[in-house]
Parts: sequence; C-alpha cells; structure tokens
Amino acid sequence: MITLNVDLGERSYPIYIGTDLLNQADLLTQHISGNSALIVTNETVAPLYLDKIKQHLSGIKHEVVILPDGEQFKNLDVLNQIYDALLSHQFDRNTTLIALGGGVIGDITGFAAATYQRGVNLIQIPTTLLSQVDSSVGGKTAVNHKLGKNMIGAFYQPKAVIADTNTLNTLDDRQLSSGIAEVIKYGLIRDTDFHAWLKAHMKALLHRDPAALAHAIERSCQNKADVVSADEKESGQRALLNLGHTFGHAIETGMGYGEWLHGEGVATGMMMAAILSCKLGNISEDDVAEVRQLLLCAKLPVHAPEQLTAKGFKKLMAIDKKVQDGKIRLILLHAIGDAYITDDYEDSQLTACINASYC
Ligand code: NAD
Ligand code: GLY
Repeated sequence: MITLNVDLGERSYPIYIGTDLLNQADLLTQHISGNSALIVTNETVAPLYLDKIKQHLSGIKHEVVILPDGEQFKNLDVLNQIYDALLSHQFDRNTTLIALGGGVIGDITGFAAATYQRGVNLIQIPTTLLSQVDSSVGGKTAVNHKLGKNMIGAFYQPKAVIADTNTLNTLDDRQLSSGIAEVIKYGLIRDTDFHAWLKAHMKALLHRDPAALAHAIERSCQNKADVVSADEKESGQRALLNLGHTFGHAIETGMGYGEWLHGEGVATGMMMAAILSCKLGNISEDDVAEVRQLLLCAKLPVHAPEQLTAKGFKKLMAIDKKVQDGKIRLILLHAIGDAYITDDYEDSQLTACINASYC
C-alpha cells in the first residue's frame, strides 16, 4: 500500500492506494470518530462492495442509503434521500458519512456531509478510476442543476480516501477510459515526465496491467494533492485542474446528464483547449496531433457533438464557475505540460475552435 498526504494543516488527510484495502478494517475504522456511520452507495456498487464495508462496522450503529445510479441523479432531489436517512435515524453531529462508489456518489455524499448539521465526518471510498485519481481527493463536492453542472456545492475535505485498486476489476472499459482522461490531464497541465510515461504505457493501462494502473493512480493523486495543498479553494493554480472542463461540462449539460461520461467530455474539451492554444500561437500543430493521438489511444472521443452548435456551446459554457465579469476564463496550454488560465482570446477564435472540433 502507498500512502500519500493532502497537506492542509489540521485538516490534512491520507490517501491510501493499494490492492485489497476494502478488507482492511482498521484503515476505515480509525477514521470514524463518532459511534455512528451512514454508508451512501448506489444500486450498481452495493451488490459488489457494500458487504465488505458493512462487516467492519459491526460495533457501531450504521445504516445504508442506496441511491439510483447515474449522473442524472446527482441532484437536489436525490441528495434529499441522504438527509431523510440521516434525520429519520436520528444521526447526530458525530456521524461519519462513507461515500462508496464513483465520483457521483463521492460528490453528492460529500455535499451531504458538508451541509448536514453544518458539517459531519466524511470518508471517501472511490471505486472508479476517475474517482480514485481525481474526484475523491481535494474536497470539491457538488450536485448538478438542470442548467449547469456542479453548480451547487461546497469545498469540504474528507478525513481519508481509501482507493482499493481491486475494485477496478469490475469496471467496464468505457468507464476505465473515462478515468484515463483525467489521468492524461495531469500530464498535460503540469507533468511532462508523466505525459511521456503515459504515451509509452497507454496500452498497459487499457489492459489493466496492475503495475501501470498503480503508477498512474499514485502519480495522479500526487499531482492533485500537491495542487490542492497549495490552493485548496481555487484562488489560483487549482483552476488548472479544470483543463477541458468548461468545454466538457457544456457537452455533458447540453447532451443531457449521463449521455456523455464526464471523462469523455473532458477528453473532447482538452482537445478543444489544445486547438485553441494552437490558434493563439502557443503550441504547434504537431503538439495538437500528439494530444489527439494520446486521447484516441485511450479510446476517448476527440470531436464535439454536432448537435451542439457553436452558439449553443458558448451559451452553455457561459454557465461555469470560472466565468468572471461575463467573460469565460479558459485553461489553455503554453506547452504540453504547462497550462495557464486566461480570458485573453477573441470570441471569433473561440468560435473557430469549436467549429474546428466537429468531425
Ligand atoms: P460514476 O460515479 O457515475 O461511476 C461510473 C459508473 O461506474 C456508474 O454506473 C457506477 O455505478 C459504476 N461503478 C462505480 N464503481 C464501480 C465498480 N468498481 N465496478 C463496476 N461499476 C462501478 O462516474 P465517475 O466517472 O466515477 O465520476 C464522475 C463524476 O465525478 C461526475 O459527476 C463529475 O462531475 C465528478 N467529478 C468530481 C470531481 C471533484 O473534484 N469532486 C472531479 C472529477 C469528476
Ligand atoms: N477536478 C478539479 C478539481 O478538483 O479542482
């Protein structure tokens, strides 16, 4: 097992990464501070892993909420099911919420933990690649609004993240690729050595080679932990973790939550960011081709959906947390491995980038 640390002073916490961690009772129970816990999971993950977690909680009062599965259920109505369970079972402020599942479960449970009685203990047990390399770490919690993704949320750090890589054995290939999109992101924004490693090991990742997966998860979490430790609430460099996301969120919202997976939207969004970076003269056509090749190799989409016109795209992009004074700030590339945030581009260049992104 590898243990990384998110360094946030008194709110620092460990990220445990390894095989068979769900069978290690201590790893979980040492982070449960009170004498009650609510496990939140969904109808897909529960039959696979819920019993493993429940067996460790035999000594304390615990209940389970099983939510419907899907991005379209990451909303205020479904969030209420968690509050209903907490209140009907009279869970107090010493309760621990345990998020068992992918990023949807992690984000909605995290927001419930941030808001129930003004904040209760949270433990993240991510079970998808995407949630192990990104969403379980760093304390962003949220639900979607029909007009915009992740628009209602809070920064709220967990007490621990337990990433058991064995859980990835039951993940389907499309979800694996979706997670790889966020892995590729770290290389593109700040880690050229990792980018080079990914180019050499993408096939191994897709074949779920355990050593390759372990390295990719560790390196991704280390990158994320470093950024979050330096800028927890996104006043600066944390925004770079959103490479491709403003484009991607527009695709997810515009196509209907759940149609495009999050990582698929991010992949196409990173492609669009690379195209715009090239139009601005920052990176070469060869760099753009390199980004495209890596995404295609990871079996990710690189073309914007034709159903979204450039006008529709920009309207959706205007509902984004990085919009300031009406201007959409974007994460672009100075070079592969060197991202920056900017609103210094012409609207016509953004339109040209969107138009160049269709098939
Ligand atoms: P997800 O949570 O929908 O999980 C994907 C699918 O895999 C679901 O059907 C789920 O039930 C299933 N699943 C989960 N674990 C499984 C397993 N071990 N075996 C088989 N099936 C399993 O999607 P995701 O990709 O994990 O997360 C996407 C979400 O994360 C989005 O809502 C996105 O906005 C959010 N996100 C948040 C952050 C953050 O910093 N908080 C970062 C990135 C993404
Ligand atoms: N996924 C972007 C962030 O955590 O900041």
